[in-house]
Amino acid sequence: MTIAEFKTACSVIEQEYKNKIAAATTSAEVEDLRVAALGRKGALTELLKGLKDFSIEEKKEAGPLGNALKASLTAALDEKTAFFAAQEINNELNKVDLDLTLPGYPVAKGHKHPLSVAQDRMTTILAHLGFEWAEGPWVEDEKHNFDLLNVPQHHPARDAQDTFFVDTKMPLVLRSHTSNVQSRYMEKHKPPLRIMAPGRVFRNDSLDATHSPVFHQIEGLYVDKNVSLADLKSDLTAFMKGLFGNKAEIRFRPSFFPFTEPSVEVDVKCVFCQGKGCNVCKGNGWIEMLGAGVVHPNVLKNCGIDPNEFSGYAFGMGVERLAMMMLNIKDIRAFYENDVRLLKQF
Ligand code: PHE
Repeated sequence: MTIAEFKTACSVIEQEYKNKIAAATTSAEVEDLRVAALGRKGALTELLKGLKDFSIEEKKEAGPLGNALKASLTAALDEKTAFFAAQEINNELNKVDLDLTLPGYPVAKGHKHPLSVAQDRMTTILAHLGFEWAEGPWVEDEKHNFDLLNVPQHHPARDAQDTFFVDTKMPLVLRSHTSNVQSRYMEKHKPPLRIMAPGRVFRNDSLDATHSPVFHQIEGLYVDKNVSLADLKSDLTAFMKGLFGNKAEIRFRPSFFPFTEPSVEVDVKCVFCQGKGCNVCKGNGWIEMLGAGVVHPNVLKNCGIDPNEFSGYAFGMGVERLAMMMLNIKDIRAFYENDVRLLKQF
């Protein structure tokens, strides 16, 4: 074969197969043509076998021609294959009565869990009052959960009856309150500091209408020069007004926590009866909401802050308790049972 004959053969093959491809009426026919043209015994392969008799110079001319022919036939075959594939889809679509202008089915949207709603509202108000978000671990050492917070070794809260111990050989507990964030934060940050620490806490209680072994608290801590009980009262009043409206009132009752001195229990005037007494406040007119107090000097000292220079207040409130009050839910278990009939209402 001469080079001239090779060129002629190329254009003959190209013409022949382009015609056949154009005339093909099924995708199977196209595949047969692919084998006949480009397959191991196909026309192009046979033609290229003749290359071996050419001189180097001739090969340099013939090689690219062979490649171009292969590319051109492949493109024509692929185009026809795609054409039949599209035709097949269209045929299928034409079989069904499809109205592409119909609107889709609405997707059922979920919403936040009532506890998240309550926690969001509380932290939003605290953020407006200047509290920064802080967090601490759920699995905590006794040092941060108790020791640094001035809780003595013999305190009943340190008993396995109240607190979950992770391992008897290690001083690790599931934190029994969010106050561990106080010690964690004060170790690393020096005053002025003002933080809120929302999160899960754990106590060795069995589940009933008012108790749960897992619940949520929000801790507040403010340390600066000259912080007093008066700051606590005004800030908590502002917080409760934010939560329950401008008429909200709070009162302090003396209490005890190892990490605050003095310590107080904070009550809110019942928002359902404005203090007159109803079934929510059990006739008291007031509802117990949270524990708080002035940070004990030992706690500041333990965390490396000079109690002669700084003072602070701290509070810890239960999210479930506030949520039950806000939403008038009587049983704490309602939050954990995931009964959509209940969740849908909020
Ligand atoms: N940690 C206390 C509790 O869980 C609440 C509290 C926090 C009291 C901060 C005083 C100061 O009951």
